[in-house]
Amino acid sequence: MYVPFNDLSRIHKPLVKDAFKVFEKIVNNSQFVLNEYIRQFEYDFAKFTGQKYSISCANGTDAIELILRSLNITHGHEVIIPTNSFVATAIAVSRVGATPIFVDNDEYYLMDTKSIKKKITKKTKAIIAVNLYGQMANLKILSKIAKENSIYLIEDAAQSHGAKNKNGKNVGDYSIAAAYSFYPGKNLGAWGDGGAVTTNNKVLAEKIAMLRVYGSKTKYEHKYQGFNSRLQPFQGYVLSKKLKELDNYNEQRSTIANKYNEAFVENKNVITPKTYENNKHVWHLYVLRVKNRNKVIDLAKDAGVETSIHYPIPIHRQKAYKQHSQHKTSFQNADSYSRNLISLPIFPNMKNSEVSKVIKTMTSILN
Ligand SMILES: Cc1ncc(COP(=O)(O)O)c(C=O)c1O
Repeated sequence: MYVPFNDLSRIHKPLVKDAFKVFEKIVNNSQFVLNEYIRQFEYDFAKFTGQKYSISCANGTDAIELILRSLNITHGHEVIIPTNSFVATAIAVSRVGATPIFVDNDEYYLMDTKSIKKKITKKTKAIIAVNLYGQMANLKILSKIAKENSIYLIEDAAQSHGAKNKNGKNVGDYSIAAAYSFYPGKNLGAWGDGGAVTTNNKVLAEKIAMLRVYGSKTKYEHKYQGFNSRLQPFQGYVLSKKLKELDNYNEQRSTIANKYNEAFVENKNVITPKTYENNKHVWHLYVLRVKNRNKVIDLAKDAGVETSIHYPIPIHRQKAYKQHSQHKTSFQNADSYSRNLISLPIFPNMKNSEVSKVIKTMTSILN
């Protein structure tokens, strides 16, 4: 038996027939941009996330950029982000002309709240908290720091669709706005690229809705120098359909994560992921720390288990940031995590036999 890192076809197959009919309808009506499916999905996603507004866009990177632009963050400004994240968190900051300022990740893999205050300067305009691997960052503390310093708290929610904490707070509740990606492999993924911003702030929502269509509300009248970042209508249909199953998908991820935790927690050769007591994790990724990572990956592959790494290089050490003043800074956790992290297969409709095979294989490699 071969266990893939992910197999999206299992959740997509039952949707294909109806989706083709919708695709045909869109083509026949020639309704190719911002049509009824987009309006419906934005309504559905706002409701799901418990936020007043949801504005869709072309991808998650644009969603972060739209938030930054709507807050007038630009050249000469600094935005604090964690260095163990997908590079897009930093790229969005760089694209608006601001400078990402990197901080370390804590033992939960989330932004280290203790190192932020030292990084705040007169130029700092925002903190982007990344809800990495599927759990909410320490948003209560971060929102306090942001308030005390009159800067914005933004959430990069690309990996945390449906995450909550046990105080009844959802993604988006502590921040001015949250940015989502609907890249196919995300907990809620489109059949192509996609993204959205959610917010409770009406002014911001209206501005973002304009920024994504050339800064315009009325055709050929442009209030802002926006850009073109629209979710494709067919993706709106797919996302609304899949959103109905998202809680179920997340529950399945959680069941698999619990089995992995149980199997590995006592193993002295691995470190299992920790969840903040208050968090409801949605397990976008299940990440272990191991020694001799490359050897472990090869042995797992030979035994028929595909794994991955999130992420092998912290953002500040990427060549894209070689001119950055922090390029050679040592971050105790992020640097060592980048050498030890390994992600195991976790996806909806993964078979029990596949989960057992992953556990058996990893146990024999790691003992
Ligand atoms: C943490 C994080 N931020 C941002 C993004 C960017 O999203 P997208 O690929 O849709 O632009 C991703 C996903 O790829 C991500 O994982």
